[in-house]
Amino acid sequence: MKILIINGPNLNMLGKREPEHYGKETLEDINKEIKEKAKSLKNIRDVDFAQSNSEGEIIDFIQDAKINGVSGIILNAGAFTHYSYAIRDAVKSIDIPVIETHLSNLYRREEFRHKSVLADACEGQISGFGKYSYILALQYFDMLNIYL
Ligand code: DQA
Repeated sequence: MKILIINGPNLNMLGKREPEHYGKETLEDINKEIKEKAKSLKNIRDVDFAQSNSEGEIIDFIQDAKINGVSGIILNAGAFTHYSYAIRDAVKSIDIPVIETHLSNLYRREEFRHKSVLADACEGQISGFGKYSYILALQYFDMLNIYL
């Protein structure tokens, strides 16, 4: 099973950006750890990573997932989570399961972050476990393959 991890706007700034919310590691550090973890999950064959600050490009990653052989998407859409109906529509347009993922716990933060326009279009939401949010989502996909 190949999994695609999509990170949205400003997540390329991890390590420098608000470390009290997002930690001190860079996106590259986190992706390296995810890749390593994936090796121990027997149903995960490969993990691809994509990052963009642009809404349209994120939509293209979602639309192209199928032709690229992706079976599951882990999506941290950053601030787009809270208002992008276009990304929501893209998630709804594909038949690949998507897990909404966040480093920080949205519900401990400003009120505008409590609303996700993606949540009900996704399989589920993982929020608040730092880099482990991605790893938990990956473990879910690994188990899903067993239980199907
Ligand atoms: C985030 C939370 C969003 O509210 C914020 O805009 C981000 C990061 C997270 O991973 O905690 O950019 O998605």
